[in-house]
Amino acid sequence: MPTHLLDVDDLTTEELTAVLDRAAEIKADGADSPLDQQTLGMIFEKPSTRTRVSFETGMTQLGGHAVFLGPDDIHLGHGEPVKDTSRALSRYVDFVMARVFDHADVEELAAYADVPVINALTDEAHPCQTLADLLTIREQFGDFDVSVAWVGDGNNVCQSFVLGAAMTGIDLTVATPEGYEVDDDVLERAADFDNAPETTHDPGAAVADADLVYTDVFVSMGQEDRREAKLADFEGFQVTADLLGDRPLMHCLPAHRGEEVTDEVVESDNAIVWDQAENRLHAQKGLLVWLADQ
Ligand code: CP
Ligand code: NVA
Repeated sequence: MPTHLLDVDDLTTEELTAVLDRAAEIKADGADSPLDQQTLGMIFEKPSTRTRVSFETGMTQLGGHAVFLGPDDIHLGHGEPVKDTSRALSRYVDFVMARVFDHADVEELAAYADVPVINALTDEAHPCQTLADLLTIREQFGDFDVSVAWVGDGNNVCQSFVLGAAMTGIDLTVATPEGYEVDDDVLERAADFDNAPETTHDPGAAVADADLVYTDVFVSMGQEDRREAKLADFEGFQVTADLLGDRPLMHCLPAHRGEEVTDEVVESDNAIVWDQAENRLHAQKGLLVWLADQ
């Protein structure tokens, strides 16, 4: 059975550390074409800037190749069952990466694949983002002895970060409006690492003892029809200069200025979002090389 990354806790704590260490090594020293002749199939049901370009560039830098499979390019979900796409792709490529709406679709891809399947964002999880986030936090602070406040939606990015924080010992407080909390299932999985986050509905209380503030869009891809309702529900959760203070700001991007963040904080020296975005490349290179070694 290949090793898949559908969410962060598909890795053990030791494996997560190994992936991050491999990423840091390759970032520092490069790598001599470890994925020569290998191909990554990249399924995208939703748009992407960072994920697409970092995976494709990463494969090139590792001596391999990536194939972009957009929603109009392949039969996935329309004209062919997911399981058939998975079995066919397994005969051509060495890894499959998928950004899809329904998390059940990456589970089905993984269930039928003979090669590693990497979740590149579903409505429930974004583990590749968390790998980059953890690399960024370790670079900024030297270790994971850090208090982080998540302010915003208890969404896909938040949920994977909850697991990554639990596994690395980060002290996390998650502030969401009522009705937008992290799923109970994710909190239970975090509790398995004896480090479930604190949860609150008060952004000010969440950031009070934090070393770092992390946020994401209020309106995720596929939720555009709920935009007005969500913006009303998230009133008071915008990360402003006043809420952020002198703490670093993380955001997975894209940022919706004027919604979850002000333009001022994204453009300020507190924002470490570009280092975070760059680390998508390094973290995924570490992941791909680590997966190839399994
Ligand atoms: N953070 C992230 O996944 O960005 P993209 O949607 O641009 O890939
Ligand atoms: N929560 C956002 C993340 C984008 C990278 C979304 O799902 O659209």
